[in-house]
Amino acid sequence: MTVIAIGADHAGYSLKEDLKAWLVSGGHQVLDFGTHSLESVDYPDFAGPVADAVTSGAAVRGVLVCGTGMGMAMAANKLDGVRAAVCLDPLMARMSREHNDANVLALGARLTEGRSAVEILQAWLETPFAGGRHVRRVEKLVALEHGHASAR
Ligand code: RB5
Repeated sequence: MTVIAIGADHAGYSLKEDLKAWLVSGGHQVLDFGTHSLESVDYPDFAGPVADAVTSGAAVRGVLVCGTGMGMAMAANKLDGVRAAVCLDPLMARMSREHNDANVLALGARLTEGRSAVEILQAWLETPFAGGRHVRRVEKLVALEHGHASAR
């Protein structure tokens, strides 16, 4: 069982509910940070708590859903330790894990329908970080969090 933090704005609410059900049926524990209705809300209010849950260790991974995934990813990536990736297909999902060690998946409910979103999420959850040369590159991402542009 893996603990997954999940969140969405109004545009992502329905897809978030579908993904939550899929995760629970797969044996995951889901921490749902909302939103809980179709009422208009602001995506940073949900990206923040999900990102916090991942960086604190309360959740192993985070999943965020808005209209395009972009606002959610931008917001989540403001927090140190978050590597949020917008993924539009399973290949992006696998690459974001293998090469970037993404710990937050951002999905766009206005771009990706439910079945595709499940395939993306499944690929993303199942793919390990490849390590090797990618460790150095992820370490340079972390250095940028602290304002250090590394010398090549
Ligand atoms: C809401 O209309 C929309 O802007 C939001 O869901 C998201 O797509 C932002 O990136």
